[in-house]
Amino acid sequence: MTSPKKLFIKTYGCQMNVYDSERMAEALKGYEQTDTPEDADMILLNTCHIREKAAEKVYSELGRYKPLKDARPDLKIGVAGCVAQAEGGEIMRRQPMVDLVVGPQSYHRLPEMEAKVLTGEKALDTDFPIDDKFEHLAARPKAARGPTAFLTVQEGCDKFCAFCVVPYTRGAEVSRPVDRILTEARDLVERGVREITLLGQNVNAYHGFGTDGSEATLAQLIWKLDKIDGLERIRFTTSHPNDMTDELIEAHGTCDKLMPYLHLPVQSGSDKILKRMNRSHTRDSYLKLIERIRDARPDILISGDFIVGFPEETDQDHADTLDIIREVNFGQGFSFKYSPRPGTPAAERPEVEAAVADARLQELQALIAHQQKAIQDTMLGRELDVLFEKPGKFEGQMMGKTGYLHAVHVKNCDLPRGAIARVRIIESVRNSLAGELVNK
Ligand code: 5AD
Ligand code: SF4
Repeated sequence: MTSPKKLFIKTYGCQMNVYDSERMAEALKGYEQTDTPEDADMILLNTCHIREKAAEKVYSELGRYKPLKDARPDLKIGVAGCVAQAEGGEIMRRQPMVDLVVGPQSYHRLPEMEAKVLTGEKALDTDFPIDDKFEHLAARPKAARGPTAFLTVQEGCDKFCAFCVVPYTRGAEVSRPVDRILTEARDLVERGVREITLLGQNVNAYHGFGTDGSEATLAQLIWKLDKIDGLERIRFTTSHPNDMTDELIEAHGTCDKLMPYLHLPVQSGSDKILKRMNRSHTRDSYLKLIERIRDARPDILISGDFIVGFPEETDQDHADTLDIIREVNFGQGFSFKYSPRPGTPAAERPEVEAAVADARLQELQALIAHQQKAIQDTMLGRELDVLFEKPGKFEGQMMGKTGYLHAVHVKNCDLPRGAIARVRIIESVRNSLAGELVNK
């Protein structure tokens, strides 16, 4: 028997790419994964195009593999993900050693593409096929896996925020059928998964159909998942404020398995900038929404995305963003310096000076870090359920997460991965908590 070939996948960007990388590795059946590119027969970069830096990283990473390819010309190199979608054949022109370019909507065709590159040809596929790639992918293997998993339920975006490439790289909003999601979720649970994070670029716009013609919104899908025995925790990300429906807000108050954490990007606190970003919500509508969500689930931890230095952002606009961050009291934040993306409307507009944007980013990040720590500190002394994910750095230590997604380290913990146990929080350090098991 020949030993399996080796595949090295490097994943950039969002959680959706993490999920796609898993599925691509599964689709390439004759391969087993390796952590070292030097051992690989195929190197696949699953790329992100959201900001300029992310895309540039791909080219510099490819440059690093050049000596490997020169030494072993039969090593195959592929680029997948959003840079592949956006740049297509341009990647092969810029880096002729690339054998394969596959977009995020066509990776179910990887086996045929791999067969083609093995004959020495190049393979390029950046179609948006009408057929559902998930239906054409191989059934997921049955091997045991860790206690948490991502599950893509929705892809694409119809919102067209003026700064964002996603509607161009990932295409229009599409929801996967309900039954397939439920089958995949049951299968994950059978393999040891206790927590599923439902993924979508605009996950709360999910609108799927069942084989019997029935329809389901994200809230209805969550209630169906809630019935799966052994599935203990449900999360979803990323959401647009305008798609936070009443039933979804209500689910946060009534569905025990739905965790008290919500990632709800606001991007800016200035109405002028929000309008120019084409966000189609205002500062006030966002604040009112947060109020309604907190009425349903008072302890929910709100996380956000923020962009500084969007074209025409003034000091006052920036002050408005800092102000909304204080008002909402975000428990977690991801902040970015605006990066003009080719083909997006904002890319045509005059840019804020780089030094000004840098200073704003620093100021905003300091505020978020302060708030994040203050909220984490409120966990001290509380008893919380922790889902244990993996051993910690020290002998006998385990690391898990609370419902609020804070990492917790517990010493002298003999519980296995996947166990959920009550933990008393005794210490709050920079990016995590420490706790001890509560003896029942
Ligand atoms: N520049 C900077 N940040 C961006 N994001 C999306 N596009 C850009 C861009 N052109 C950020 C947004 C989004 C997150 C995933 O990335 O905050 O919510
Ligand atoms: Fe991009 Fe806006 Fe769609 Fe989010 S909602 S993916 S930021 S266009």
